Amino acid sequence: MLVQFLTIALFHALPAWSLIHWLPVPAGPWLWAVIAFFSTQVFLLIFGRDVAFLKEGTAARSVYRLSMLSFVLILNLFLASAVHLLIRGIIGIAAWKIAGTETLVPVFSLALLFVSGGLLNARKLTVRRVSIDVSAFPESWKNRRIVFFSDTHYGTLNGPGMAETLVKKIESLNPDIIICGGDLFDGPKGRYGTTLAILARLQAPLGILAVLGNHDYFYLSRPGSSRELLQRQRSREEMPMGGETRLGAVKKALSWHFLENESVEIDKVIFAGLRPFSIGDEKRAQRFLSELDAEKPTILINHKPQQVEEAADAGVNLQLSGHTHGGPVFPANIVMRMLLKGRHFGTTHHGKMILDTSSGSGISLWYPRTAGRHEVVVVEMTSGDNRI
Ligand SMILES: [Fe+2]
Repeated sequence: MLVQFLTIALFHALPAWSLIHWLPVPAGPWLWAVIAFFSTQVFLLIFGRDVAFLKEGTAARSVYRLSMLSFVLILNLFLASAVHLLIRGIIGIAAWKIAGTETLVPVFSLALLFVSGGLLNARKLTVRRVSIDVSAFPESWKNRRIVFFSDTHYGTLNGPGMAETLVKKIESLNPDIIICGGDLFDGPKGRYGTTLAILARLQAPLGILAVLGNHDYFYLSRPGSSRELLQRQRSREEMPMGGETRLGAVKKALSWHFLENESVEIDKVIFAGLRPFSIGDEKRAQRFLSELDAEKPTILINHKPQQVEEAADAGVNLQLSGHTHGGPVFPANIVMRMLLKGRHFGTTHHGKMILDTSSGSGISLWYPRTAGRHEVVVVEMTSGDNRI
């Protein structure tokens, strides 16, 4: 806790110092205003999430949103302060006479504008189309359409309104089959009942398939109250599984086929779904993949864009993933692109297999969204750019 507090405090120190040092405002009240602002941000960052764990309602959700906003805001003010220091360095070396206000105000204004743009961006849901040449598939699959969505994170941040938008968008795309890539729900609190009633309206001629994401696995599969979950998470206690869980209620409300290390054959195509795993379960996932029939056309749904080589070796034709949100905040998107070698978003080729990673359909822990867009992916099974 102390390390977390010190890290956060240090992160706030540079923008706070920049405001106090470069702006010619009378020291007394201005100093206190800056201290009050940044102290509130620190408080929100550390405790905002806990409020959403323990309380239900609009006020708790607003505190949670503010705490998320606080993180991205401070991140951008920190980056703006660093850029500003660089600018002041150049001005110093060149011996130009430019006041601090004339440089700090435009740089901080740009940062605030950037964050505001992220707020608007987070409200949009776009459609991304991927064209797949399915010569390896039975003839009946030509011109069929898979609608894939992932990472809705319904709960505290994304409510029934966003579920309504998603359902209407998917309905407008006339899918033959709908696939959910996991992280459907997030957090122990949220308007689960209302959201489930909206999602239950989804229909497709060939059915709806889903896998669980790490957030579903964490929050839905464990019994216990929100307070118990929070306490166990804090003390890093082992979380018990089994008993009556939220996942049971979700499965009861939705007539979706949840694939947990299992596969289902639909019109001579295998749809395989991996369970999100932690250390120790990895071998089980690898064994599951190695047991797939390499002769049959196969689509793998794996929440994380992982096991890609194993899936390609197992003869999987197409892997659909999510989890990364495409790196929803600058500069995390750049870091993620480097770490995941481009697998963080969009289509990549791995031998004969295609991996498509979605940037997700809902707000994650990163809000506002300052990089990428929320999306629904339409996989058109036709002659196209990507041969499988
Ligand atoms: Fe996610």
